[in-house]
Amino acid sequence: MVSKRTEDMSSFIVMDVLERANEMERGGVSVIHLEVGEPDFDAPACIRDAVCRALDEGHTHYTHSLGLLELREAISRYYGKTYGVGVDPDQVLVTSGSSPAILMIFAALLEPGNQVILSDPHYACYPNFIRFVQGRPVTIPVSEEDGFQFKPEAIRSKLSADTRAILINSPSNPTGNLLSARRMKEIAAIAADSDDLYVVSDEIYHGLVYEGKAHSILEFTDRAFVVNGFSKQFAMTGLRLGYLIAPKAYLRPIQKCQQNFFISANSLVQKAGVAALSSAEKDVENMRNTYNKRRRYMIERLKALGFGITREPTGAFYVFANARHLSDDSYALAFDILENAHVGVAPGIDFGSNGEGYLRFSYANSLENITAGLDRVEKYLRSRDWPLEK
Ligand SMILES: Cc1ncc(COP(=O)(O)O)c(C=O)c1O
Repeated sequence: MVSKRTEDMSSFIVMDVLERANEMERGGVSVIHLEVGEPDFDAPACIRDAVCRALDEGHTHYTHSLGLLELREAISRYYGKTYGVGVDPDQVLVTSGSSPAILMIFAALLEPGNQVILSDPHYACYPNFIRFVQGRPVTIPVSEEDGFQFKPEAIRSKLSADTRAILINSPSNPTGNLLSARRMKEIAAIAADSDDLYVVSDEIYHGLVYEGKAHSILEFTDRAFVVNGFSKQFAMTGLRLGYLIAPKAYLRPIQKCQQNFFISANSLVQKAGVAALSSAEKDVENMRNTYNKRRRYMIERLKALGFGITREPTGAFYVFANARHLSDDSYALAFDILENAHVGVAPGIDFGSNGEGYLRFSYANSLENITAGLDRVEKYLRSRDWPLEK
């Protein structure tokens, strides 16, 4: 029998959309992908070269379970330079993408029944990580009118003796919005007021911010775990490189998880991580400028098509558009758009029940494809006599 723990895990719906799109493509249909959450750029040349060089130099062995010291030092310098915070390399543990970092943090923090507070909508996989280690996700709806920001007072009202963590993600997937410094400070203060409460801050979209500034939680408190990685900012999704920064008391327990479950992250890719942090600044700036042009275009075009965007997203590469005037079943709507307009979009329900009625459009695709994709959506809406104005 399949274990209940895996049986109960929900699928990542956007992957279902992608798989159906791939099936259609195999049947000869051209699909435009605005559903996927990964950079369309290849990793910059300095990163690819570093992988090849590391291979030539024979870096084909296990590394230290915490990760190469060289990389942990580079991460520590990066946090110092970017946010003005002191991170000891011994607080850093390098992982194969940020996903194992999330899993191990919750494994180290939660006893069965402990709660983690998170916003709704949220990154689709979070509740599954929490449940997998027998924790309980406690969601707080955030509203479009408030820029999908977490309200500190709403967090306070959900605290209980079982609450062990508040999970934040700024810039956010799926909304593309940032948490203000003021609210982060207040959230940090909530953690500091309780005995055994931590902020877990997923900073994976840092570096992809077009207006305003992303703050690290470490600017406001040490009672925090940081999750970060190279997938998004450095376009390294397939290379699988991430890391966590943890309070020192938690490092050893998490290191034991890493040793047992994963041993170490990929040695070649860790070398590439050092190159990314030291030499890819210009490449990241170019990607960011390109994303920003697409962002501006996509927002204007979606608004003209009648989608609701109250607060324009300023980070990551997503627009979370209100489509309630079209349907209150985002799953059916996303698949209808896929089948009839041949455009992949992510249904809001994938990101929590409060995401129902929204569609997530990704601009991690060329301007040409975004334009063609939104032309198709326009044609689809017109063919159904659906209102183009809200
Ligand atoms: C908010 C967020 N966190 C974590 C991840 C996992 O990324 P990776 O494991 O590639 O580092 C993703 C991927 O889409 C994400 O959107």
